Amino acid sequence: MTALARIPTGGPALDGLAATGRLARLSHPDASDLSHIGGKRGLPLVGVMPQILLDPARFSARMGARHGRIYRFHALGRWHLHVVGAEALERLLFDPARSFSAGEGWGPLVAPLLPGALLLRDGEEHREHRRLMGEAFRQTAIEKYQLIFADLVEQRIGRWQGRRIDAYEEARRLTFEMAVLAFLGLSLGPEADRAMACFARIAGGLLAISYNPWLSLARHRGLAAKAELDRLLAGLVEAKRREPGEDFLSRVSLLRDGEGALLGTSAISDMFIFLLVAAHDTMSSALCSTLHFLAAHPDWAERLHDEQADAQGPLHAMFFKECVRLNPPAPVVWRRALEDVSFYGKTVPAGTMVGANLMLHHRLENVWPQPGRFDPSRFSPELERERHRFDFAPFGGGIHKCLGMHLAQSQAHSLARAVVASSRLSSASNSPQGWYAWPSCRPRGRLLIDVRRRSPGS
Ligand code: HEM
Repeated sequence: MTALARIPTGGPALDGLAATGRLARLSHPDASDLSHIGGKRGLPLVGVMPQILLDPARFSARMGARHGRIYRFHALGRWHLHVVGAEALERLLFDPARSFSAGEGWGPLVAPLLPGALLLRDGEEHREHRRLMGEAFRQTAIEKYQLIFADLVEQRIGRWQGRRIDAYEEARRLTFEMAVLAFLGLSLGPEADRAMACFARIAGGLLAISYNPWLSLARHRGLAAKAELDRLLAGLVEAKRREPGEDFLSRVSLLRDGEGALLGTSAISDMFIFLLVAAHDTMSSALCSTLHFLAAHPDWAERLHDEQADAQGPLHAMFFKECVRLNPPAPVVWRRALEDVSFYGKTVPAGTMVGANLMLHHRLENVWPQPGRFDPSRFSPELERERHRFDFAPFGGGIHKCLGMHLAQSQAHSLARAVVASSRLSSASNSPQGWYAWPSCRPRGRLLIDVRRRSPGS
């Protein structure tokens, strides 16, 4: 085993683990610790990072085809594992034995910029923060956010008629406006633009491969943007406490901890910025995939149109599931093993970074016949009953399961419903078809879609 190599991230989960002494025992495994697991070392220094960056989905598909349901690879200076298959995902995400840390798994990526992110918290602390944040996701709150989104969608679709749209740009715009109106409670304008520009720089910083702010300009800019957004949010929190609205920030500004005290502004800011991070790229991805598959499969668009009367009808749900099965907005979900564990009879030493690779998991042939084919009927109630509950996991599972899942589903349904009610979509012939799966699944080029108004009664 290599010498102790603690990830220099800090943050609440890590402090909690350090306090229990579990973190102090962790080191990253070296090749000899993982030699019984097939995989690839790649180039000196950079490992397989160039191949991953070139095409994450193809890299996973090749590794899966060669090594099966568990494989290792070297990147960012250490070994990582990917696992697929319902049994492994249940072990990793449901984690009945509490053998994994989400904070340690996501820490290297998220902690330097967002040390207070919910996803970085483990154990009791996570439970408490999730309970607090969950208040802002109650059904009544979601219904309010949903009304705002439905309105935005109506306006936007009105502008699309007779035009060729760039589906990803439009999906991003919708997600951005939703964040401004429903999460921040601001109107569209310069203040909102400033807040969202800071947010965009933070998101850019999260992607910077180097963790040292002096080596990575994007990360450095991300840290500066975080400080600016913190200041802006602190002012907004004060204003919302005096005059609360129905927006998410108003709701969290009024949250109280177990002792009845209002949360501190920096805790609220961290909570809120993480929420934007968790929601923004994932929703842009899901809405873009919705538009793409509606355009590419007009037969399904017609079926959804015929189902209009039933707002939560099964076909809409099946359609959305198939969109995110093929294009999972969160392609890999990370954990770090806190103790020796076993997947498919192979021992994985404590300290190993383990990712549930959803791109590959959602295309396992024994679960999804002809996995690359778009076919929402896979999610008929009968076929769903036959599957393992972790065969399909776009929102993760277990204690960190996506808090925004219901909101995300209802937004995607709302977009699909509004589109098929008013329009017919078709993929522009010169539009590229490839997707790039990092950090969220997105089109490789400009995904162009033609929008035509549906004539009344047709
Ligand atoms: C289709 C869109 C989305 C997908 C596919 C998605 C996926 C996920 C996944 C896989 C996780 C679990 C990560 C893990 O276990 O390590 C997660 C967590 C989370 N998501 Fe989402 N997400 C989506 C949209 C949203 C939205 C719209 C919001 C908020 C408005 C949101 C808020 C969160 C939060 C707060 C967590 C952390 C939960 C925790 O740590 O307890 N997500 N999401």
